[in-house]
Amino acid sequence: MKRHPSLVPLSREHQRGLFLAQALKRGIPRFKDLPTTVDGKREYALSVYKALLQHHFHVEEIILFPAIRGRNIEIDTLINELLQEHQQMHTLFQTLHNTSDLETLLHELGLLLESHIRKEERQLFERVQVVIDKEQLHALGLKLES
Ligand SMILES: [Fe+2]
Ligand SMILES: [Fe+2]
Repeated sequence: MKRHPSLVPLSREHQRGLFLAQALKRGIPRFKDLPTTVDGKREYALSVYKALLQHHFHVEEIILFPAIRGRNIEIDTLINELLQEHQQMHTLFQTLHNTSDLETLLHELGLLLESHIRKEERQLFERVQVVIDKEQLHALGLKLES
């Protein structure tokens, strides 16, 4: 389903998140100028986290999720899972500073970030566009822009 305009800014950020996820996973072929060493990957992960993901998770938690919660059991279940995954990712990003197995941690973080974003795009956003009416989606879009 084509993405509703109100959700496009979040979807654009998801593209950047998927790019990071790809860079973090183990055994991925060299791509563009993405880092290939574990130290380079850690630095890249932390810079995207600080510049984008921390804020992205926060916006979803304080604007998106409250606006769509309480109308549909499947959406509510997804939101609960997504909130837990945000917490897991916050913890993993913090652990990057202090781990004895950086390679495994980066790989796990890449997998979780990828599956989280896919869940939002393929399950949450698809359902939201069916369940939430156009006016409410428009209002949500304005809140997300501000
Ligand atoms: Fe999220
Ligand atoms: Fe997201």
